[in-house]
Amino acid sequence: LRIVLAGFGVVGQSFAELLVLKSADLASRYGVVPRLVAIVDSEGSVLDGRGLSIKKALQEKRTKGRVGDRNGRDTARIIAETEAEVLIEATPTNFRTGEPGLSHMKAAFASKKHVVTCNKGPLAVAFHAMHELARHNGVQLRYSGAVGGGTPILDFGQSCARGDDIVSVTGILNGTCNFILSKMEQDGATFDDALKLAQKEGYAEADPTLDIDGYDSAVKLVIMANHLGLSRATVKEVKIKGIRGIDSREVVRARESGRAIRLIATAEHGLSISPTSLDRNDPVCVSGAYNAVKFHCRFSGPKVIIGKGAGGPETASSLLRDLLDIRGAFNEGVTA
Ligand SMILES: NC(=O)c1ccc[n+]([C@@H]2O[C@H](COP(=O)([O-])OP(=O)(O)OC[C@H]3O[C@@H](n4cnc5c(N)ncnc54)[C@H](OP(=O)(O)O)[C@@H]3O)[C@@H](O)[C@H]2O)c1
Repeated sequence: LRIVLAGFGVVGQSFAELLVLKSADLASRYGVVPRLVAIVDSEGSVLDGRGLSIKKALQEKRTKGRVGDRNGRDTARIIAETEAEVLIEATPTNFRTGEPGLSHMKAAFASKKHVVTCNKGPLAVAFHAMHELARHNGVQLRYSGAVGGGTPILDFGQSCARGDDIVSVTGILNGTCNFILSKMEQDGATFDDALKLAQKEGYAEADPTLDIDGYDSAVKLVIMANHLGLSRATVKEVKIKGIRGIDSREVVRARESGRAIRLIATAEHGLSISPTSLDRNDPVCVSGAYNAVKFHCRFSGPKVIIGKGAGGPETASSLLRDLLDIRGAFNEGVTA
């Protein structure tokens, strides 16, 4: 199974490490021998059709800050020209244009490669077009790491929908906001102090706008709703209210009455993101940098999945999960 890896940052490197750690297990349990034949970052690339030395690539990235040499070729061209079965796409998310991931995925589909991605950008911008392209080229598209990091929220939702109907979905899809709200609740911290702490501990970006203004949650909700066939809405149609500047007195008051404020994503009559007061005993009401999603099903009732919503090794595990699914599907001759 030959793989091109685009993006060699937190997730890309974790994925490479996971391949090393799990190589014996993958061969014995699944009969899969993945070979990384190309790794590309923003500045360079390394290629070897027989399979790269992952340890060497990791070491080079850590010491030099890039893989291989500057080669002037853009990533889409490398993807198109490299002989491989799968593209793993782990470049930065751009919610507005979907780039560079969108071009990478198009290049992969056009050269008949399956795509596994954790990049929300291309899915936010062109969810149905990407599925259509995959189908048209007879290949698979998987993106379970785009929602929930390593927690298989999309797979769980799909299982809930099989033989039943999902009536509504409510959940926490952004670990950064949940960390901030939990800190405010536990310590009576102000929004600004809790945000600073989230940045110090690596939960929030230097520019936290997309998280705290609810946009990241909205994109994940859109991906989930489209994936489960609940809606064909785009982000423009989501009613979004984030947690920026939320008053710590409101958070503390909620705690004193056995409730908690959480940034809740809802898919019921339309899609929305909004700070919401939850009963403390509601299983969705998790604390810290966690995600939790409740699927309300017509016949089987509510079901909840909880787990870490981000992290390098966690998200890498979802890429590997998708890779194994693709391998299983193409063995059975199934396409997207
Ligand atoms: N981190 C998480 O916990 C997490 C969880 C779920 C989903 N995701 C998603 O996963 C993706 C990767 O996240 P990350 O945390 O690994 O980000 P990151 O650490 O910033 O890594 C991004 C990587 O992409 C490379 N890159 C940028 N432009 C490129 C291009 N045109 N061609 C090839 N490579 C390019 C960067 O190159 P340089 O190394 O040269 O800068 C870097 O190696 C993002 O879309 C993110 O939203 C992340």
